[in-house]
Amino acid sequence: TQQRITVIRGDGIGPDIVDAAIQILEKAGCDFAYDYADAGLVALEKHGELLPQQTLDLIASNKVTLKGPLTTPVGEGFTSINVSLRKKFQLYANVRPVLSFKGTKARYENIDIITVRENTEGMYSGLGQVVSADGSEAEAMSKITREGAERIVTFAYELAVREGRKKVTAVHKANILKSTSGLFLKVAREVAQRYPQIESTEMIVDNCCMQLVMNPHQFDVIVTTNLFGDILSDLCAGLVGGLGMAPGANIGKDCAIFEAVHGSAPDIAGKNLANPTSVILASIQMLEYLGMADKAERIRAAIKEVIESGDRTTRDLGGSHGTTDFTQAVLERL
Ligand code: NAI
Ligand code: MG
Repeated sequence: TQQRITVIRGDGIGPDIVDAAIQILEKAGCDFAYDYADAGLVALEKHGELLPQQTLDLIASNKVTLKGPLTTPVGEGFTSINVSLRKKFQLYANVRPVLSFKGTKARYENIDIITVRENTEGMYSGLGQVVSADGSEAEAMSKITREGAERIVTFAYELAVREGRKKVTAVHKANILKSTSGLFLKVAREVAQRYPQIESTEMIVDNCCMQLVMNPHQFDVIVTTNLFGDILSDLCAGLVGGLGMAPGANIGKDCAIFEAVHGSAPDIAGKNLANPTSVILASIQMLEYLGMADKAERIRAAIKEVIESGDRTTRDLGGSHGTTDFTQAVLERL
């Protein structure tokens, strides 16, 4: 039967870059049926809520979603839509690969790092958020479970084995956050024992930031908790030319959502300036998830050719073209 994909075009630059990705999937001959669903500001305007029930139903029934960035309105009463989606569907693994292409303004070549971020616990669990009545104190709770830590670290090692990678680095702050990060590190060490064929290292998160900037080629797969993974993956995006180059997959037991790492980029929305590579690479992750590696590889090769030849690249990569020209260049390669 035909694979159905739920598509959330999203806010800001979302519709432009998601439409680009769909055009490219079509051109590559992917025979998907697309069900469009609203979330974010668009949904708030149309349906009076950020995450309508029919959207949740489509995500659950199709099991595979391609999603643009969503704007969470700042202010009381709005919990992040992304955090809600990840929790609701137990999308516990956030897989964020970065890969260098020549022809970007990036400082390094040959970067190939995957950050595996725990996506449901830690500082983003949303538990215990309290501000005192007079506004003078605020608290939030960070929760790490043995089950959650074991699940994400095992996921990272299984990914490393599957993709022929050599090394997994567990990133933590167990020296200060003794309970939470301490438990994560303890479990990471236990899981590492089961994979003698993979080199296992560990690193404290602040040092990891410095090491990523000074000597990024030492890294292969990074596995870490939610907050650290959020920050480190943006840092990694910066190593390969910026957020326009960084995709992410949110993967759970039954369901997966593929998206860019970045947000809705209000500063460039509606100006045909966004680099759609992030969402196109997310759609490549989606193809790989669906076992369509040959099509994934074709699209990746087309993007590589366009970026490395500098043919119609976007401004964030040092080019002078817009979203539509870049997309056209990739379509022609296909
Ligand atoms: P952002 O990621 O939207 O933008 C940061 C910077 O990167 C901006 O200068 C932007 O122009 C640039 N940028 C981002 N994507 C780009 C692309 N494809 N091509 C070229 N340049 C690109 O972060 P910001 O401004 O902090 O957040 C804006 C909104 O996005 C907020 O409402 C936030 O909540 C939301 N957000 C949503 C996410 C999601 O849906 N997964 C993730 C992160 C933020
Ligand atoms: Mg982030």
